[in-house]
Amino acid sequence: MASVLQLLLLASTASTARAFYLPGAAPHNFIQGEQVPLYVNALTPMLTAHPGKEDAKLKSLINYDYYNPRFKFCQPENGPNKQPESLGSILFGDRIFDSPYDIKMLENNGTCRTLCTETVTAEDAKFINDRIREDYALNWLVDGLPAAEMKIDPRNGDLFFDMGFNLGMDDGDYYERPALNNHYEIVLRYHSPAPGKYRVVGVLVWPSSIGGSQDGTATCDADPASPLLLTEDQANTIRYTYRVTWNQSDTPWATRWDNYLKIFDPRIHWFSLVNSMVIVIFLCVMVSMILLRSVSRDISRYNAIDLSEDVQEDWGWKLVHGEVFRAPSNPMVLSIMVGNGAQLCAMIGVTLVFALLGFLSPSNRGSLATVMMVCWTFFGGIAGYISSRVYASFGGTERRKNAFLTATLLPVVIFAVVFLLNLFLVGAGSSGAVPFGTMLLIVVLWFGISAPLSAVGAYFGSKHGGVSHPVRVNQIPRQIPPAPKYLRPWAAALLSGILPFGAAFVELYFVLSSLFASRAYYAFGFLALTAGIVGLTTATVTILFTYFILCAEEYRWHWRAFLTGGGSAFWLLAYGLFFWVSRLQLDSLSSAILYLGYLLLLVIFDFLITGTIGFLASYWAIRRLYTAIRID
Ligand SMILES: *[C@@H]1O[C@H](CO)[C@@H](O)[C@H](O)[C@H]1NC(C)=O
Ligand SMILES: *[C@@H]1O[C@H](CO)[C@@H](O)[C@H](O)[C@H]1NC(C)=O
Repeated sequence: MASVLQLLLLASTASTARAFYLPGAAPHNFIQGEQVPLYVNALTPMLTAHPGKEDAKLKSLINYDYYNPRFKFCQPENGPNKQPESLGSILFGDRIFDSPYDIKMLENNGTCRTLCTETVTAEDAKFINDRIREDYALNWLVDGLPAAEMKIDPRNGDLFFDMGFNLGMDDGDYYERPALNNHYEIVLRYHSPAPGKYRVVGVLVWPSSIGGSQDGTATCDADPASPLLLTEDQANTIRYTYRVTWNQSDTPWATRWDNYLKIFDPRIHWFSLVNSMVIVIFLCVMVSMILLRSVSRDISRYNAIDLSEDVQEDWGWKLVHGEVFRAPSNPMVLSIMVGNGAQLCAMIGVTLVFALLGFLSPSNRGSLATVMMVCWTFFGGIAGYISSRVYASFGGTERRKNAFLTATLLPVVIFAVVFLLNLFLVGAGSSGAVPFGTMLLIVVLWFGISAPLSAVGAYFGSKHGGVSHPVRVNQIPRQIPPAPKYLRPWAAALLSGILPFGAAFVELYFVLSSLFASRAYYAFGFLALTAGIVGLTTATVTILFTYFILCAEEYRWHWRAFLTGGGSAFWLLAYGLFFWVSRLQLDSLSSAILYLGYLLLLVIFDFLITGTIGFLASYWAIRRLYTAIRID
């Protein structure tokens, strides 16, 4: 057991460590005096622990453009320029612009400089104060590295780089209004691999609030006793100042991300994760052993009875041999769901392989989402193929309709949800809404590549036809006796969903935090292991439940297997609501709707993926089972 644990830990840490060092991303060598551009990204709400208060809670889910006119941040002379971004980066809310900060490699060390002076109306001051109360953070990028605030973990006193830094301070105990940070102490860490060559290996920002007179020459010295409090009944003048300090560092370029990512690997979570994996593996082995033993006992008993006695007495699952391959109700819908689920499975699998090989490092912004989108697009063929074969196995005849719906149904549902969420984002003035151009690109990807590939897949699928069945279907359906309570569809789905959910819920916490609290996710080793375990558990548990219902002479297993496999989605939904209560404090309606919308999409994906795994595993097992017995 211990060595298994060690092995798992080793495998996952090795793969996560490799994930940071992206092959192919070349370092940028600066020379002295070269301009170091500072880019600004959208403002995001941040999990901030307030001293003396209970756990940090996220207060909003809405991003704002840095150059949203209500913030009145200093702009470059010719107006802000949008920077090119990948598809995934845009989808995940990045909106990167250039900035007026004048930073030159190793120059103006420690000089206090004024960026600009702006006037903010009373109305906008209220807007800014509200955002400070919601713990919004600024996100800057220098040479691909996010600007971070050095913080102390209140639990263990460790220093860590927290990506993003606060827009202001909301210290209700001292001041009646939040203080706006108008001074940035920027510490750029550089590494010099060779004389005259410099690389940026760390970006730290200490924001502070400097009150008092906002005109005249700035000193950049913050007086904690007089922060800048914006009044909400008259116009305010804000002077933005900054000071750049160049600090030499021993960190080589290759490991510059480690400081950022070291933070959120609290050992305890990792160990509990490994622990739950071991438990689940143990359960899986047990379940499969029970299953194998009782089935092989059944089989030898059937075959023995068959040989020695004239009157064969069928019972249990053998009784329904003439029924198991009877087509389920709504074969069209089921086959479409299985096809789309298979497409999503393949997408997740390949994305995880990419992540494990280290292609999705955080320095490649949005690469994860980009790879997912591209995989999903190109795996349209898998959906078409699987869907049409499953449909043919059910004896379906409307092949064209099946191919068409497989290619369109799920994308249309997703588009509808995303479109609705977009409306709310636009209404809230957020920058998070997917831009029209990106929407168009996705439609082109889907319409131009995914849908045709799905049609091609469907063509080959129907050419190969359905899977052959080892036993014939009776003419007249059997009566079905009432099933015990725990085998009722919903009870079985909830019961069977516990195991895969139990294997995943620690990792799920990290995934949800990174999705909603814009934290970088990097533990792909663990994620891949967890995904593998979830797949395995789902398959085993579904086979077990399918066996039980067949023993109870309930032969309508197709939909039941899908539902039982997808059982973890209900737990995911419940956990998502629990996460909302425990980690979020969403005051605005649009944030709440956004959260529910994203959660709903996650639940749909989970249901399709695990349901498909359960269905295909049960199909495989049932074919094996009924091939093994002899039927006269
Ligand atoms: C910049 O100033 C800081 C102290 O203010 C000093 O520690 C650092 O070495 C200086 N960097 C350079 C490149 O001179
Ligand atoms: C520069 O780095 C040294 C050690 O690497 C550290 O002690 C010092 O505080 C840093 N200076 C600033 C301004 O961050």
